[in-house]
Amino acid sequence: MSNSDPANALAEQAAEDVLQDELVSLRAQVAQLTAAGHELISTQTRMQSLLHRATDAIIQFEADGTVSSFNSAAERVFDYAEIEMMHQKATQLFDLPEAFRDNVPGYLLAYARKTREQYEQPLVGLRRDGSKVLLEVSVAEIASQDLVLFDDFSDAASASDAGYEAFLCILRDVTERKRIDEELRRHREELEQLVDEQTREIRNAKDEAERANQAKSEFLANMSHELRTPMHAILSYSEFGQKKLTSAKPEKLGQYFDRIHTAGGRLLEMINDLLDLAKAEAGRQIYDIRDNDLDAMLRAVLTEYEGIAEKRKLSLRYVPGIEDQHADFDPEKLGQVVRNLLSNALKFSPEGGVIEIATSDVDLVSGDAVHVPGVEFCVRDQGAGVPDEELDTIFDKFVQSSRNRKGAGGTGLGLAISREVVHAHKGTITASNNADGGACFRVRIPRNPPPPTT
Ligand SMILES: Nc1ncnc2c1ncn2[C@@H]1O[C@H](COP(=O)(O)OP(=O)(O)OP(=O)(O)O)[C@@H](O)[C@H]1O
Ligand SMILES: [Mg+2]
Repeated sequence: MSNSDPANALAEQAAEDVLQDELVSLRAQVAQLTAAGHELISTQTRMQSLLHRATDAIIQFEADGTVSSFNSAAERVFDYAEIEMMHQKATQLFDLPEAFRDNVPGYLLAYARKTREQYEQPLVGLRRDGSKVLLEVSVAEIASQDLVLFDDFSDAASASDAGYEAFLCILRDVTERKRIDEELRRHREELEQLVDEQTREIRNAKDEAERANQAKSEFLANMSHELRTPMHAILSYSEFGQKKLTSAKPEKLGQYFDRIHTAGGRLLEMINDLLDLAKAEAGRQIYDIRDNDLDAMLRAVLTEYEGIAEKRKLSLRYVPGIEDQHADFDPEKLGQVVRNLLSNALKFSPEGGVIEIATSDVDLVSGDAVHVPGVEFCVRDQGAGVPDEELDTIFDKFVQSSRNRKGAGGTGLGLAISREVVHAHKGTITASNNADGGACFRVRIPRNPPPPTT
């Protein structure tokens, strides 16, 4: 450079200095910008990593409704990869109503606005395999660099109407929580039901115990009366006999002995009944069930009662209705059942009435719904019958019907014993009332019952 003009040289120097300063300042600015750029990149990286590490699914939509971010949790919840969702409308993630056909952000916003109790009515999302996932939703619109979060969704209406640049939604998977809650609710209900059932059972057991207690008291009252009557007869007639041993005629003494014998017989019958029932209930009764003639057994027992029936002006009628009279049963025990039924019919029939025993073939259905051939006999009378609500309970021990409990005598054991015997034959015994008055007791047993288990 020529320094011929000193003024020029000075000016050039000054310009060079200015340039130098500007260069320094520019370098400083570039360094600042680079640092800011780095900061921005690191902030963005941090944000991205936060977004991807979040436990809730976060999806960002652009203003045109396409996905611009789909975090890892979203990938897990919906089973789609971010790459598949990017720049898509993501309509497969929800069952969209017609009004929101390709507008997922609009749908989510409308849902969030309208459904305050989101946990109660969760949003239903659809996974890749079509299974449903239950979600709670928060939405945010990003307008002009501002993030507007809608905690109170009533505000969302005005904000969204202004339009948005981007739309962020956070979806929390509540399927498992709901399932656990549902399970807890079911357990609670089951528990309540169990408690109710047990309370009912305890109440029933208590009622049952009270009924048994009541029946027992009645039985004791009855039994002492029943025992006392023949006992008095025995004591009185034996005392008469002793006093009049030398003075009374032998026939008179014979009469006393007869009465003592009858009363003793009645006592023995009662004691036998009690023992029989106790044995049957303890499963210690021994049955001899084998092929027997039903007709012969019924005729034999009927003959025993002819005398008593005649005395009471009652007629006994036998109506056989089956051809093959053979069946497997214990004639002594089943005969006892017929005796109990006949003695009841005689006891509860008005004078002049008819008592009928009829037999028939029946088809029985066993416990495992198998049909087996059976035989039936029923004892029908023309007495007062049994109140409908007592038709089952009269088979319980010591129970007597309210209609004829008073004054008829008996201990309420006959039907209980009969039921035990019939059950040992795998049969049934039921009571009903005839349409034209009187009671009917029906016994059904299979022709070939399996051997008793006891
Ligand atoms: N044919 C019938 N008509 C009306 N009531 C009946 C008849 N048979 C039974 N009952 C009612 O059922 C009750 C129970 O009968 P069950 O044979 O078990 O006892 P009981 O005859 O009173 O006494 P027990 O038979 O022990 O001497 C009877 O007391 C009676 O109230
Ligand atoms: Mg009886």
